[in-house]
Order: sequence, then C-alpha cells, then structure tokens
Amino acid sequence: MKIEMNPEFWNEICRISKELSKEDNLLVVSHHDADGITSCAIMVDLLTGLEKDTEFMTIKQLDSNTIKNIKDTDRTVVFTDMGSGQLSLIKENKIKDFYIIDHHTPEASHEKQINPHFFGYDGGLEISASGMAYFVAKSLGNMKMAHLAIVGAVGDMQDSDGKLHSLNRIIMDDAIEQGLLKVRHDLRLFGRQSRPLTQMLAYASDPILPGLTGNEAACASFIQNLGIPLRENERWRTYVDLEFSERKKLTTALYIHLLDLNTKEFIIQGMIGEVYTLLNEEKGTELRDAKEFATLLNACGRQGQPEVGVMVCLGDREKNWRMAKNILQKHRKMLREGIEFLEKRGVEEMENFYYFDSQGRIDENIIGVIAGMAYGARIIPPDRPILAFADDNDDPKMLKISARANWSLIRKGLHLGNALREESRKLDGDGGGHDIAAGARIPKECRDEFLKNIDRKFGEQLRRSV
Ligand code: C5P
Ligand code: C5P
Repeated sequence: MKIEMNPEFWNEICRISKELSKEDNLLVVSHHDADGITSCAIMVDLLTGLEKDTEFMTIKQLDSNTIKNIKDTDRTVVFTDMGSGQLSLIKENKIKDFYIIDHHTPEASHEKQINPHFFGYDGGLEISASGMAYFVAKSLGNMKMAHLAIVGAVGDMQDSDGKLHSLNRIIMDDAIEQGLLKVRHDLRLFGRQSRPLTQMLAYASDPILPGLTGNEAACASFIQNLGIPLRENERWRTYVDLEFSERKKLTTALYIHLLDLNTKEFIIQGMIGEVYTLLNEEKGTELRDAKEFATLLNACGRQGQPEVGVMVCLGDREKNWRMAKNILQKHRKMLREGIEFLEKRGVEEMENFYYFDSQGRIDENIIGVIAGMAYGARIIPPDRPILAFADDNDDPKMLKISARANWSLIRKGLHLGNALREESRKLDGDGGGHDIAAGARIPKECRDEFLKNIDRKFGEQLRRSV
C-alpha cells in the first residue's frame, strides 16, 4: 500500500518552502553528524539550484556558546537538524530572519518552523532531518537528493528494527522510482560493501556473533567450512562479491549458529532486513551502502571535518572524497587504539553498569563510539550498560560522559537518555540522548556522586518492567 503524508502537513511544508524560495543570501546551519550533514547538503543543493547566494556551517550543537558565531550574520539562517529544541535561545539572541527544518522535539511552534511532531509524526522513527529537508526540496520541484535522505535516516538508526517506516518510506519509494536506490532484504551486517568477509563477521556488533565477533581466525574457518572462498585471485572478497547462492549459505549458517547458541529470536531477526544500495555510487566503496555512507559522514563529523562530508554529499569525488577516505582511516585507527587501551585497562563494575575513565587518553568526540564497541570486542558482556568518561575539550572543570547499551537492555526498561538527563541536571550538568546511546557533562568533582546516583537510577529503570 502506498503511504501518503498528512495533507495538512504537506500544505504547511509547501507554504514555508515558498516563503524560503523568495529569500536570498542564506546561511544553512546544521548538526555535524550524518543526518545533519545530509540535511545540510540537501538544503545547499536546493538553494544553489535556485541560484541563491548560500553559505553553510556545521556545528556540534546549538547552545549559548555556538550561537555567538551566528547571531551577527546578515544572512537569513536556515537551521537544519537543530533549532526546534532551541527556539527560545534563537529568539533571545535576536536572530533576525530564520527558518527551522528539524525533527527533534519542539519547544514551541513558529511560523517558519517545519517539524513533524506538530502533525503526529515521531521524529525519532518516522522521519529524519534530512527527510524533512528533502520534502522541502521536493515541494519546490527538486527530488534528486532522495537517496541522501535515506542515508540521513539510516545514520539516525531509524531502520534499526530492520526497515524504514512511514514518511521515510515515501522518500525510499521516490528514490527507487528515480533509479537512485535499490532496497533488498538481506544480511544487515556492517561492511557489506567495503570490508573483507572475515572482518565483516569479526567486527559485527549488532548483533554480536558469539564465537565469531572479535575472532578473525574463527570467522575465516566459519566461512571456509561453508565452501566459500575468502579470496578471488589476490583480492579479499566482500559480501557484495558473493554469488547469490553463497550469500544464502552464509546467511543461513549465521542464523543457525545464533539459534544453536540460544540467541533471542528478535536479535537474530534484526540481522536480516532492508539494505539500501545507492545505485549511482561505485561498487565496493563506502558510498554504495547507506549504512557505510552514514558511518563515513559520522567519521567526518567526529574528526572535526563535517564540511568534507557535505562536499562529498554534494558530489565531489575528487579532493573531498580523498580527504573523507583519509578521515575514515584516521577515525578507525583512533577507534582501534581506544579499544586496545580499553582491553589493557579493563572496566570498573557497579551493580547496574560498567564504566571506565579514559583520563585524557581518548578524545571526548569518539569516546561514545569506543564505549559502544566494547560489547562487540567482548570487553564487557551485554548484561549491563556502559559509561565512559573523557575530559571536556572546552572546559577543563567538566567531565564528558558517554553511555551505550544494547537492545536487550532497552527491552528491559533501560533508557540512557532519560537517566543521564535527570541525574546530570541534579549536579549542575546537562545531558540527554536516546534510550540506547546518550551523553552528559558534569563538574569533575561530582563524578563519584554521579556514579552512585546513576546506579540507583538504572536499577529503578531495569526493575520497573520486571
Ligand atoms: O557524544 P555521544 O556520542 O556519547 O552522544 C550520544 C548522544 O547523547 C547524542 O545523541 C548526543 O546528542 C547526546 N548528548 C546529549 N548531551 C550531552 C552529550 C551528548 O544530549 N551533553
Ligand atoms: O544522536 P546522537 O549524536 O547525535 O547519537 C549518536 C550516537 O548514538 C552514535 O554513536 C549512534 O551510533 C548512536 N545511536 C545508537 N542508536 C540510536 C541512536 C543513536 O546507537 N538509536
């Protein structure tokens, strides 16, 4: 059945887009992650296509500090993937003329704000910011970036139960119709395009493959025992290099392997689902698979060079594409070093979580990713969430905290974002995020009190649903 958007929402998008199309001298301000970067690119492509003088800027978050760089602009500001939660901050800073295209929970309504929450859509699941930016472009006759909105949605994990939903599916159909995208039901392990088979299995963390994750030798014999050659001439084969029958063999064997080890059915099912292939991108590159593309963009953001990602989204396959590949390599190296550090150091244990303090050895921008990888690398068992501490880059008196969990814990009632928001605020900090991934900032001297309080909080959340 074809999904349709609420017509009132579509009318609202058309109304605001029309206003936007009358402006000139614009500044697009966006978030530095995959959804923010793709939103920014979709908007820049739209505006420059309309022959508007357009600049862009990508930032980590919009707060009282970062808004200083925006408030004196004489350009009309278009906030993408941010702004809805900071409307009062934007008004206090007297930004003259602005538009907001966002999917985060809004503070209040505004005549130039496009946000799906006002029309009953869940911005966490049904549509990303890049999806909203795409609908703005579509209403003005530009549909050619539909595939980027899929990359943004996947970057925000909106497909994490195996498929995209609701408004995201409208975009998916637009992209398929234009020949930009192919959607297949297949194995969803990360690295289908760009990782050798053994590495794809060995680095799998979603789901964790017991006996395989973290053990390349075991992965190599698992694949070889199925009669699947690891190499073709001198080249290591990737999943997309496999024949259809080989793919089926490998998928079935993984399924049975997990069943044999009593893995829960919903976890196994999450391993198979929709995969999104960008048909205009070269086979075997990160750009060909929406999930890998999103990871590349996240690496650019976390390594402080989101604008490189924007240029790649806008089509640069020369200088910025080369830079992006280098950034990804550097990012992976930093992650590897972080994991090695963690393997040596180990983690501390509380009743309801694990934690470690990087003591200045791991940058605050990547500590959350490393914390999440601790499950895949089998440094910690999946029975409790993990918290990681790093020095705050902007304020030496503050501690940056990243928290990660897994689906089994979420199903038991854990919500990291709520817990970190509540407990950090009690100690003059701030925090928030998703159920499965969250972060916070607290004064360094409050560390031990925070540990005690958050232990109690997680305990309450996990027991509530039992
Ligand atoms: O930095 P990290 O990757 O751990 O962030 C995970 C999530 O927590 C992100 O969604 C981020 O927006 C959120 N977060 C937050 N407040 C902070 C730090 C992170 O809401 N102070
Ligand atoms: O949203 P925030 O920056 O902006 O969170 C980003 C981090 O949270 C990434 O590391 C991402 O992989 C993780 N995340 C997740 N599951 C979600 C949402 C975010 O693992 N549902």
